[in-house]
Amino acid sequence: MNRALHVGVIYSRVRVEEKWIFNALEQRGVTYDLLDDRTIYFDLQNPAPWKKYAAVLERSISFGRGLYAVKVLNAMGIPTVNTAAVAETCGDKLATSAALAKAGIPQPRILAAFSTESALQAIEELGYPVVLKPVVGSWGRMVSKVNDRDAAEALLEHKETLGSYQHTIYYIQEYVEKPGRDIRVFVVGDEAIAAIYRKSEHWITNTARGASGENCPITPELSDICLKAAQAVGGGVLAIDVFEHPERGLEVNEINHTMEFHTSYPITGVDIPGKLVDYFLKVAQGEIKVI
Ligand SMILES: Nc1ncnc2c1ncn2[C@@H]1O[C@H](COP(=O)(O)OP(=O)(O)O)[C@@H](O)[C@H]1O
Ligand SMILES: [Mg+2]
Repeated sequence: MNRALHVGVIYSRVRVEEKWIFNALEQRGVTYDLLDDRTIYFDLQNPAPWKKYAAVLERSISFGRGLYAVKVLNAMGIPTVNTAAVAETCGDKLATSAALAKAGIPQPRILAAFSTESALQAIEELGYPVVLKPVVGSWGRMVSKVNDRDAAEALLEHKETLGSYQHTIYYIQEYVEKPGRDIRVFVVGDEAIAAIYRKSEHWITNTARGASGENCPITPELSDICLKAAQAVGGGVLAIDVFEHPERGLEVNEINHTMEFHTSYPITGVDIPGKLVDYFLKVAQGEIKVI
């Protein structure tokens, strides 16, 4: 049945994850086109060239290119993994937190402000230390722990003076005393398929920042919070960052919609690319409706 399926994969660079994904597509007898996000362009009134794809998988490294590509494709009626609505929410930490709050998902306390004055007021209300983050970003970049008012004033002034408009959308989060690690959970459709602990001496535990990974058992509690969080942002193929709060237990930190898994696949032994592709093909075959 897969033989008739033809799909597209939007990418920026063929990383090891993409190689595994292509491999999984080939194993399942599916043909695919590689769509380089720097060379493709869309004629909005002529969706015909895109209609040949039963679905498109978005693997851009660039948030903007990936987001706008799937926006256009979804508007043309072509299903994507993930959808534009999901990318829009997950690509923006404030939008993610707002969706999680709406769904009542446990998360650290978050305040949002749009000027240095109101941001300072919000930080003081929350109490030090706080964590300030760009609303759009990844790999732990510019995630900043602010320990006192002097640091807060300096950081806010730098952001206002040196940053682009996005850096004056202040995302202010309570600092969580994690046990030297956080948890990265991979959700595909309605299943939490794999998880790792990310351990580090540093409070920032991204593997891109040198944290080491270790298999994390998926307890019913971990699965439950992650599936609810995934639902809250629209569902699909998602990587969820979870904190273990010393008193309150599991809390969702953020959700990533174009997940990397080059360390997690070997660590967990779970066939993450295979499961991702199986989900994608269900979308392509119309078994799962995403748009
Ligand atoms: N509020 C917080 N309390 C404690 N640690 C945090 C907090 N926010 C972020 N971190 C640490 O910083 C890392 C990166 O932050 P995150 O919000 O996931 O941004 P990114 O999108 O860059 O991964 C997290 O994995 C975690 O280790
Ligand atoms: Mg993260």
